[in-house]
Amino acid sequence: MALRTSPEIGGMGHSIKRKEDPRFIRGKGNYVDDVQLPGMLYLDIVRSPYAHAKIKKIDSSKALATPGVAAVITGQDLAKYNLHWMPTLMSDTQMVLPVEKVMYQAQEVAAVLATSRYAAADGAAAVEVEYEPLPVVVDPKKALRPDAPVLRTDKKDKKDNHIWHWEWGNKDSTDRAFRDADVTVKQEIYLPRIHVASIETCGCVAHFDKVNGKLTVWMTTQAPHAIRTVFALVAGHVGLAEHKIRIISPDIGGGFGGKVPVYPGYVIAVAASVLTGKPVKWIEDRMENLQADSFARDYHIAAELAAKKDGTLTALKIKTIADHGYADAAANPSKFPAGLFHICTGSYDFKAAHVEVDGVYTNKPPGGIAYRCSFRVTEAVHTIERMADLMAHELGMDPAEFRLKNFIKPEQFPYKSALGWEYDSGNYAGALQKAMEKIGYAELRREQAEKRKRGELMGIGISSFTEIVGAGPSKHFDILGLKMFDSCEIRIHPTGKAIARFGTKSQGQGHETTYAQILAEELGIPAADIQIEEGDTDTAPYGLGTYASRSTPVAGAAAAMAARKIQDKARKIAAYLLEAHEEDLVWEPGKFSVKGAPNRAKTIQEIAFAAYTNHPQGMEAGLEAVSYYDPPNLTFPFGSYICVVDIDKGTGEVKVRRFVAVDDCGNIINPMIVEGQIHGGLTMGLAPALYEEISYDELGNIQGGSFIDYLLPTAVETPKWETDKTCTPSPHHPLGAKGVGESATVGAPAAIANAVVDALWHLGVRHVDIPITPAKVWKLLREKGVTE
Ligand code: CDP
Repeated sequence: MALRTSPEIGGMGHSIKRKEDPRFIRGKGNYVDDVQLPGMLYLDIVRSPYAHAKIKKIDSSKALATPGVAAVITGQDLAKYNLHWMPTLMSDTQMVLPVEKVMYQAQEVAAVLATSRYAAADGAAAVEVEYEPLPVVVDPKKALRPDAPVLRTDKKDKKDNHIWHWEWGNKDSTDRAFRDADVTVKQEIYLPRIHVASIETCGCVAHFDKVNGKLTVWMTTQAPHAIRTVFALVAGHVGLAEHKIRIISPDIGGGFGGKVPVYPGYVIAVAASVLTGKPVKWIEDRMENLQADSFARDYHIAAELAAKKDGTLTALKIKTIADHGYADAAANPSKFPAGLFHICTGSYDFKAAHVEVDGVYTNKPPGGIAYRCSFRVTEAVHTIERMADLMAHELGMDPAEFRLKNFIKPEQFPYKSALGWEYDSGNYAGALQKAMEKIGYAELRREQAEKRKRGELMGIGISSFTEIVGAGPSKHFDILGLKMFDSCEIRIHPTGKAIARFGTKSQGQGHETTYAQILAEELGIPAADIQIEEGDTDTAPYGLGTYASRSTPVAGAAAAMAARKIQDKARKIAAYLLEAHEEDLVWEPGKFSVKGAPNRAKTIQEIAFAAYTNHPQGMEAGLEAVSYYDPPNLTFPFGSYICVVDIDKGTGEVKVRRFVAVDDCGNIINPMIVEGQIHGGLTMGLAPALYEEISYDELGNIQGGSFIDYLLPTAVETPKWETDKTCTPSPHHPLGAKGVGESATVGAPAAIANAVVDALWHLGVRHVDIPITPAKVWKLLREKGVTE
């Protein structure tokens, strides 16, 4: 995209430095845990050692005798106000504090309030709870058996652990295509539980001002407005009306979907502040964060592909069991219990597809959040990209050639997929060919053949993913009835400087910079002169928040639309000042001039001053606008990643030697920020591919509940990412931009898994579930007689 503004204005396409970084790199950010209020109490939580147990007794006497402890709160206390249960985003229910039984290990059992964090922890350790263990169900397939104990005994009519069945697509035409197929492949794929593990854990400071009856909550949330509405709906009966609630989401140290849900700790802290009239701080520790907050993935997938002999794909069939833990607390748009999993036809031109998902209760923490992905898109991409490789290998075709044959072609856009999505734009072959060139694909294949002769294990994996980001449109997308639009409000001050507020909330993505760049592009006011604010429900316009890479597609578009309203008014003022007709004025970023007389011009700063000092009679003073943008469609960013791995035959260790990522997110606002998003996303894609997993033993004891065994890649494990781009603008976004924040996390795991299987295919290995640990690979090598 050609630059339209000078570096001084810093509109779209300029890699200007992030405005927020000076405070972050100097340790001057303002995070929830930085909030200190006079008389503040600290809250700590007693958690269950059992995955399923009756609570026979909670004895708080020793805790109450602990120095500094002010109160112990139990489920019985909250039950008096009907606050011991709360609704989830998927219209299920979830305990705040239990009254009868606990449903997973590390579940909140009671809360202790004290004058310091340490006193609260001492108090929590002194609470004595008597449990009676109950049978535990951790395997969702076993949970569906008729003899499985029914977990949700609170639901009077519930006779099993099945939550919902959801299906999409045309079953008959898919079955027919499978009957007519020359070749079919089938594979079970498990995407294990993982956790986002952002640098900052979750927490809040709740402050109920008894005099004014106003509740202020500083909170680690990605969606402050939606949270305020949910709080008002849940706690309206105890007097918390929406205008008396202020949610402030200050600086956030990473969200990645994990800071969308409402966790019991938030609700207990609010209840504690309302009851005591004192500010209450609750900050999770790292293990609480890993063990009890919403997880991601946990999809047991059975996928089948059908193709003709010549390699043309014809149909896709998927059945999935989704393990939701003890409550369906997924963060999905309400209409879609399996999120946007039905993007699973990916980048390929399928004529028929059918997908089924069944949600299941187990004794695990609730959730199903979108870990840096747009509602189950990673699960979809991993499935189709693994299956594409499987089919290519089965047919004896090169996986790149196979993809190029089956891609949706540029001239087919807008493209209606077999599962009903309308893809806005794409050039999948362009991205793959660029990646192949950059990595030297043909040469690598030659090298692989040579190495194979010598018995060395080298693999090349491709992932040509399509994302789907930017929820709305509101006719299809809502959360608990709240339509998924987003907003921007702009005020231009008399001196031509501006403030703009948004309904989204950055968690490190750099919105203070990129939103200012969008406004600079549209108004010609330097980005440096525009202050961006998000996250305070008392000041920002209503919006649905930041997750699923929706900020640029939705709020970014709202910024452009609001700016265009301002430009319309500015044109009227300029016409008045220049004594010209509006239609005789020409706009270039930053000024209007008279057609044919470029010296007769008014800058946006002069126009702003006039809006307050010399505006036309009959026109309202001021230069402000607001836009609530309802996108006509989602945006469909895409990319092709190629990964080269070497496998150590002695240890089974997989080493990522090279990784080339070609991404396309349409027109780019800030190339440096996009590159940063992709680097971070790739590392977060490497993580579940090779390291991260949360699993449970038969008794529901968590494995992977601390950083000792929940492995995050560090700089040592992370390869040098080689990035590049193509640019296919979105035809419906006002700036031609698509989202990008999650592309790399979504696309990377399949490239790595495909590379590993590619290295082992000749030994008879067809699939390896992620995380591909050295132990798993070593076991396979032993089975195949390659190592001892
Ligand atoms: O919703 P979220 O901010 O997580 O995701 P996003 O909209 O994909 O944006 C992530 C960051 O990349 C933001 O700072 C965007 O402004 C920036 N971006 C960009 O500069 N150009 C694009 N085409 C897309 C995103």
